[in-house]
Amino acid sequence: MSKETIQLKRNLKSPIGIFDSIDQTFDEYTNYHNSGSGNYIEGNATGLLRHKNPFLPVQKREDLIWVSHYMDTFYQYAKKCKNHIAELGVNQVCSTWSWAKARPKKITICDIELYEKGAHYLDSFLELCEEEGIEVVCENKSSLDIELRDVDMLFVDSQHEYDHVTKELNLHAKHVHKYIAFHDTVLCYPDVGRAVEHFLTNNKKWVIELEDTSKPGIIIIKRIEDE
Ligand SMILES: C[S@@+](CC[C@H](N)C(=O)[O-])C[C@H]1O[C@@H](n2cnc3c(N)ncnc32)[C@H](O)[C@@H]1O
Repeated sequence: MSKETIQLKRNLKSPIGIFDSIDQTFDEYTNYHNSGSGNYIEGNATGLLRHKNPFLPVQKREDLIWVSHYMDTFYQYAKKCKNHIAELGVNQVCSTWSWAKARPKKITICDIELYEKGAHYLDSFLELCEEEGIEVVCENKSSLDIELRDVDMLFVDSQHEYDHVTKELNLHAKHVHKYIAFHDTVLCYPDVGRAVEHFLTNNKKWVIELEDTSKPGIIIIKRIEDE
């Protein structure tokens, strides 16, 4: 994509597609849930959004309502993590703005279909992070095929199956210094919650920091400091 196209794309505004800055985009996403925009989208705004911003396909409504109301909580933890934050399961780049707003030195984003699913939103994300001096590592592969090191906060939101989450934890948790957050711990995917519970039973250095059972649910666990 040319610089001009990126610039044009960023200058166009839609209710959920402002890319002027990391903070502004984060606000758009977090306000989305409370502003009644959900109804707006539901009530046939697809055409309207496309009209306002022809470059962007409509961000899937269910993706936004499922995560946007947790994004401020994610940010509150992310801002305690100044070095490296990693996300497993990025989809169309929603939750990811929470990590960017915290401005760590480095963000790793991993999705088995990173360039397909993130296609229309990733460019803006990468561009804004570059402007702010945040290094972004893109892993277009399975979360089980990447090597993470020195991560302050890990966000687990990929394949919501017990075995998969357990494997992700076995592989990556030892390289996480502070927090691991999980999405979809209640609705549809009780497997995620079960995998976290199992992990905590076997790993006494990790404890529950926060559990929000509003749908679809999040859990954040934290590593206990060595005595
Ligand atoms: C629930 S969505 C992520 C939503 C995103 N974190 C958000 O809040 O907007 C799950 C994503 O995980 C990805 N995924 C599925 N299996 C995966 C795997 N084995 N490794 C990495 N990503 C995977 C899917 O392609 C999908 O984009």
